[in-house]
Amino acid sequence: MFIQIKNVYFQYSKGNPVIKGIDLEIERGEFVAIIGKNGCGKSTLSKLLNGLLIPTSGHILIDGLNTASPSNLLAIRKKASIVFQNPITQFVRTTVEEDIAFGPENLNVPTDEISQLVNNSLEFTSMSEFRYREPKTLSGGQMQRTAIAGVMAMEPECIIFDEVTSMLDQKGKCEIFAYINKLKKIGKTIIYVTHRIEEVLDADRFVHLDNGIIDFIGTPTDFFKLDDLDQMGIEVPEIVQLYSMLYNEGIIKQSLEITDISRLEENLCQLLSEM
Ligand SMILES: Nc1ncnc2c1ncn2[C@@H]1O[C@H](COP(=O)(O)OP(=O)(O)OP(=O)(O)O)[C@@H](O)[C@H]1O
Ligand SMILES: [Mg+2]
Repeated sequence: MFIQIKNVYFQYSKGNPVIKGIDLEIERGEFVAIIGKNGCGKSTLSKLLNGLLIPTSGHILIDGLNTASPSNLLAIRKKASIVFQNPITQFVRTTVEEDIAFGPENLNVPTDEISQLVNNSLEFTSMSEFRYREPKTLSGGQMQRTAIAGVMAMEPECIIFDEVTSMLDQKGKCEIFAYINKLKKIGKTIIYVTHRIEEVLDADRFVHLDNGIIDFIGTPTDFFKLDDLDQMGIEVPEIVQLYSMLYNEGIIKQSLEITDISRLEENLCQLLSEM
C-alpha cells in the first residue's frame, strides 16, 4: 500500500483535536477526492500526508516511510507534494523558471539534472513561454500551473491538490483539470481536496470528512446513494439529483455510474428517449 494512515489524531498546539482517529489506505495511481465542509480538517490532513504536520498520535506511512521520523522527511517530500490554494504566497524567486527549480534544489538534485526537470515541467504545463516572467505578474490560472510545474519538477509519485481552483474562473479551472487528467494518465497518485463535489465526480474514491472524522469512503456512485446528503451539507449537482430522483422513484431502473456530468447527461437522455 502506498499511503497508510493508521488511527491518526492531530491537534494544533492550542485547542482540541482537529483530526480524530482517521484510518485510510491509498494505492499507487489512485485518484482520491477528500471532501467535506469548511473547517472539517481537509487541509490539516493534506499537511499530515507529506510531513508538514506530524500526527499527535497514530502514524502515517508514505511508501513505508513514517512521516514522524525527521530522517524520512526529504524522501517523503520527494514522494508526495502539495499544491496549495493560493500559489502567490508560495513563490520564492523572481522568475518562473527559478521558482520551479527551487523544489529540486532543496531535494539536493544535481544541478545538471535540474534544468532538464525545469524544462520538462514547463513543457508539461504549457508554461515555457512564461519562463522568464515574474510569478506574481501571472494570471491566477498561470500561477497555479507554475505551482503544478514546481511540484512536477520534484517528480513526486503523489500530488495533493488543496482547493487549487477556488481562485480561478471557469477557463482557469478547466486548464487545471486538464493537467490533473494528464497527471492521472501518467500514473501519478492524486489526492484532490475540495468542497465542490462536481469537480471530482471522476475520482476513484470519495473520502468524506466530518469534523475530523471520516464518515464515508467509497465510489462517487455509492456516495450519491447516501440518504443523508442534505444533513451532511452536500450540494449535489442538479443532474445527479434528477437521476437519483428518477432512480429512487423506479422510473429509471438502470443503475448509472456517476463519474462524469456530461456522460451522465448523455446516458440519462438516452434512457429517457427509449421510454
Ligand atoms: N495553524 C492552526 N492553528 C490552530 N488551529 C488551526 C490551524 N489551522 C487550522 N486550524 C483549525 O483546524 C480546523 C481544521 O482546519 P482545516 O484548515 O484543516 O480545515 P479545512 O477542511 O481545510 O477547511 P477549509 O474548507 O475552510 O479550507 C479548523 O477548526 C481550524 O480553525
Ligand atoms: Mg482547507
